[in-house]
Amino acid sequence: MTNLIDKKTKNLSYNPQQWQQGYQSQPNEYDYFIEDIDGKVPEQLQGTFFRNGPGLLDVQGIPLQHPFDGDGMICAISFLPNGKVHFRNRFVRTEGYVQEQNSGEMLYRGVFGTQKPGGWLNNVFDVKVKNIANTNVIYWGKKLLALWEAAEPYRLDPKTLETVGIDYLDGVLNSGDSISAHPCFDPASKLNNGEPCLVNFSIKPGLSSKITIYEFAPNGSLLSRHSHTVPGFSFIHDFAITPNYCLFLQNPVTFNPFPYILGFKGAGECVDFHPKKPSKLIIIPRTSPDEKMKTLEINSGFVFHHVNAFEEGNNIYLDSISYQSLPQVQPDTDYKETDFERLDPGQIYRFKINLDRETVNKEMLESRCCEFPYINPNNIGRNYRYLFTGTAHNDQGNAPLQAILKLDLLTGKKQIHSFAPQGYVGEPIFVPKPNATSEDQGWVLVMIYDGHKHRSDIVILDGENLEKEPIATLHLKHHIPYGLHGNWTSEVFI
Ligand code: FE2
Repeated sequence: MTNLIDKKTKNLSYNPQQWQQGYQSQPNEYDYFIEDIDGKVPEQLQGTFFRNGPGLLDVQGIPLQHPFDGDGMICAISFLPNGKVHFRNRFVRTEGYVQEQNSGEMLYRGVFGTQKPGGWLNNVFDVKVKNIANTNVIYWGKKLLALWEAAEPYRLDPKTLETVGIDYLDGVLNSGDSISAHPCFDPASKLNNGEPCLVNFSIKPGLSSKITIYEFAPNGSLLSRHSHTVPGFSFIHDFAITPNYCLFLQNPVTFNPFPYILGFKGAGECVDFHPKKPSKLIIIPRTSPDEKMKTLEINSGFVFHHVNAFEEGNNIYLDSISYQSLPQVQPDTDYKETDFERLDPGQIYRFKINLDRETVNKEMLESRCCEFPYINPNNIGRNYRYLFTGTAHNDQGNAPLQAILKLDLLTGKKQIHSFAPQGYVGEPIFVPKPNATSEDQGWVLVMIYDGHKHRSDIVILDGENLEKEPIATLHLKHHIPYGLHGNWTSEVFI
């Protein structure tokens, strides 16, 4: 396989060996002021960028078989009023992480495909799940919470990143419950007299799936909770909101648990995608308990992430990143040897839903390979003009994310800031400027893995003019493995 990749290297925007090194574990925990800075950090940029992702890609030297199985490691980049920037990273001390670090052994299988060593005999009937707390991190209700969709949140101290423990959201959750890693921030909720609120959901999949929606006030108190049952198994990672609705895409998948229970495959490898079956769009009212849930069928495709949704008259618009098929790591293959050209790229689609006629039209907004979309948080659930997303360097085909795309949905104009060939991007976080007068007045913060130096950078781009030189590039002293999601808070924690 390596030779196969080598033959292709000349035509690639990246060096596969360098790309693979971004999946090296980072077992160390750091705590320092960043001094190696190109450019100048804006004085008005004050707050904390929290970011989560797998920090270990091996357990006690045994490589994971899927990067999403890695133990969660939080990074906090604090932008101080005096212009200094502080970096800190800490592992979430989950029960499983502590057990494995203390024992020196791999004690858990991973949900996405990692098996304990020793073959199926050492995995059969072992269905205990390790809460790895690795997908997102949010600061809400004065709590910093590391999220993983199959278990409870872990609370951390926002100043030190020390793990406090499992958090049940002031009694909203019970032991064994889960909550998604993709909450939506509603900037002005009808349920909260126009104040912000946090909307999140949990899924209990089975032959039918129970979706529970939770809404939280800024102090963390529960504003509403309601549950709905939909037919069939659900693999739903993300959702979208409008002022009146929650929107879910139920991908056309089935789950056969037996290879997992018998120790042959990870649970994630037991999910089968059915491209000839439709996806189901589930529309659940947020504010009118008497209004019924609607389910509409749409052309197939697999969606992990939504960009945004909004209402206009009797129409709802939902923008999502959709794949023609479910991108999976096949059993007994090395994810670091991924042949990108054999996988479908994620592309941005707009679903126009007419609530009266109960029809859905699907239109492609962007054909190039995209993932990790982000928008101005003040426009979540509202009509919006600009989206920011990770994208491949080339405008066709599938490849690692090496650039940030800004798409103007009004004019179709694109701006692209590429870090190829040695740079690999994570999720771009948009931070509005204080007193901004346009939607794109703000900074785009992104963590870059520099495959040439084997170190990571925090780059600050200008939201209005993404293509110009970075406002500042903050060089870390080490690398951080490819991550998942993060968020900004205007509170400075150090
Ligand atoms: Fe996600």
